Amino acid sequence: MIKKPKKVLNPPSKIGIIGGGQLGRMICIEAKRMGYHVIILDPTPSSSASQVADEQIVASFDDKKYIESLANICDVITYEFEHIDATILIELEAKGYKIYPSGNTLKKIQDKFIQKTMLKDASLQVADFVFINADTDFDMVVNIIGLPFMLKTCQGGYDGKGNCIIKNKNDYEYYYEILKDYRLMGERLIDFERELSIIVARDLNNNYAYYPIVENAHKHSILHFTKSPALVDAKIESKIKSMAKAIVDVLDDYGVFCVEFFLTSNGEVYINEIAPRPHNSGHYTIEACSTSQFEQLVRIITGMPLGSTKQNFPCVMANILGNGSVEKRYSIEGIDEVLSEDDLYLHLYGKGTTKDMKKMGHLSVLSNSIEVAEEKALKAIEKLIIKPM
Ligand SMILES: Nc1ncnc2c1ncn2[C@@H]1O[C@H](COP(=O)(O)OP(=O)(O)O)[C@@H](O)[C@H]1O
Ligand SMILES: [Mg+2]
Repeated sequence: MIKKPKKVLNPPSKIGIIGGGQLGRMICIEAKRMGYHVIILDPTPSSSASQVADEQIVASFDDKKYIESLANICDVITYEFEHIDATILIELEAKGYKIYPSGNTLKKIQDKFIQKTMLKDASLQVADFVFINADTDFDMVVNIIGLPFMLKTCQGGYDGKGNCIIKNKNDYEYYYEILKDYRLMGERLIDFERELSIIVARDLNNNYAYYPIVENAHKHSILHFTKSPALVDAKIESKIKSMAKAIVDVLDDYGVFCVEFFLTSNGEVYINEIAPRPHNSGHYTIEACSTSQFEQLVRIITGMPLGSTKQNFPCVMANILGNGSVEKRYSIEGIDEVLSEDDLYLHLYGKGTTKDMKKMGHLSVLSNSIEVAEEKALKAIEKLIIKPM
């Protein structure tokens, strides 16, 4: 049976994006190129995304009234990060508003314990984990997940925030006291060889598209650079693709999803986490692939066909991270030197202030040799100096 395609939203239909960070900005840039009208909802005036959007609604991510007015003005809604009140989205969908991915997906993903339970129930491999609360016995935790282990806040974490390594009972008692107001979980520490990720897309007519598998290098739990494509053998590649497909099928949803994996030296693959949105490790798709992850999302939510995920050049993407112990205005030195390099693409997010490890921008280097791209990208990052003022 041929399924009737869903109705398409032609430009200048209105797209609402909840979240005004760099991901929202890059979704918006693509949506604008394609002729759509974009409205951002974010509590920070002149957010990174709103600088390139048509309008911004200044409101918080749990403000039902303003999220509903965004839905009223727009033809479709998406979001660029997970820390939104998902029940508001679920209620709006029940009233007939189009939101992709759905509020139900967001609800399952925004809590790491619920997310991992869903994956485990679907027989997908994740590190052993346990829920932790005031009644939890340390020795019982160690029995299940070993020592050292990772203590994680279930909600609200990003860029490694809310994660701490527990080496002994003293660490546990210390960090539990600090984090006890959050939902917490313990997770077995995986002795991985490499961290990999994949972006998978599903359109409204149930077609799937996979971007190449990439390799991610982290520094202090925050993404430092991504090499694309990752060197993986065919067996690992097909394992990762089938796990990514299984996840989208379990969620039974539409959009762009990133799945992060740990690969061990004996070829075991564990799912670390899912993001129901474009991802930092997919920024390379802007210059290296026929369709970027951001354009792909715009195509999907407007009911358009998927674009090709073909990678045309090897690429290394490196993050430009901020400096300073407190949020401050800043200047950046070295841009002219970096821009004198060929095949290097600089992206700055227009953020008003900088702070240690804050994502200020990224750069992508294309080269026929991934080694050359890596060297060039990492040298360029060294040359960019962010000076707090
Ligand atoms: N169970 C684990 N074993 C080993 N390393 C881990 C584990 N969980 C997280 N990490 C490391 O910490 C990084 C950030 O953790 P993650 O749970 O993905 O948090 P975030 O939500 O901040 O991205 C991961 O990319 C990985 O390097
Ligand atoms: Mg992560």
